[in-house]
Amino acid sequence: MKKRPPSYETQELREFAEVLQGRRTISLFLQTPVPDELVRDALEAATWAPNHHVTEPWRFILPGEHTVQKILDLCRRITAEKKGDELALHKRESWAEKPGWLVVTCERSADELRQQEDYAACCAAVQNFMLYLWRAGVGSKWTTGDITRDPRFFDIIGVDPSQAFVVGLFWFGYPKLTPGQSRKELSNVLRRLP
Ligand SMILES: Cc1cc2nc3c(=O)[nH]c(=O)nc-3n(C[C@H](O)[C@H](O)[C@H](O)COP(=O)(O)O)c2cc1C
Repeated sequence: MKKRPPSYETQELREFAEVLQGRRTISLFLQTPVPDELVRDALEAATWAPNHHVTEPWRFILPGEHTVQKILDLCRRITAEKKGDELALHKRESWAEKPGWLVVTCERSADELRQQEDYAACCAAVQNFMLYLWRAGVGSKWTTGDITRDPRFFDIIGVDPSQAFVVGLFWFGYPKLTPGQSRKELSNVLRRLP
């Protein structure tokens, strides 16, 4: 017998859950450009994330073509240093196909708890950004690869590493392929206390 939907469930709520559960990390994108306005609105949505003491610790950087070229060159250089020229060229080519680029940084704080909370806030902002885009049919990928900690990357994006750190480098665009994913049953990660 088909399970009856709970009384609180509305179509809006079902659709909202579909956005939350349906978002996937996208690695392959179409070359169709994402409208600037959409990106702007997604970033605006990002800034409404919860942030303790309203520190608004996030900073968003949208690299233009010139900067993307510099990042691609650095990607190649870093990969060549670690894994050789052939792989480096291949990686550069695959990165060159990413249609949209965003870097998110978090302001540094001398206070350990505040730093942790600020990073959490940045992650919440990132999720807002990715879900807003996803609802508009645009996928994204969050990466924290070596490049995001490389001093040369900070030079390219014009960020002082003593003032901020990189939460992630993000690619976005219309998905060419949406992979499947699974999660543990909720009962594996949920404990109720009396
Ligand atoms: C902080 C963070 C860093 C990540 N860095 C990478 C990365 O460097 N490379 C990568 O392929 N995926 C990265 N991901 C994406 C995860 O691999 C992805 O979220 C996970 O496989 C679950 O897939 P889903 O996003 O489709 O649910 C990162 C995700 C987070 C939250």
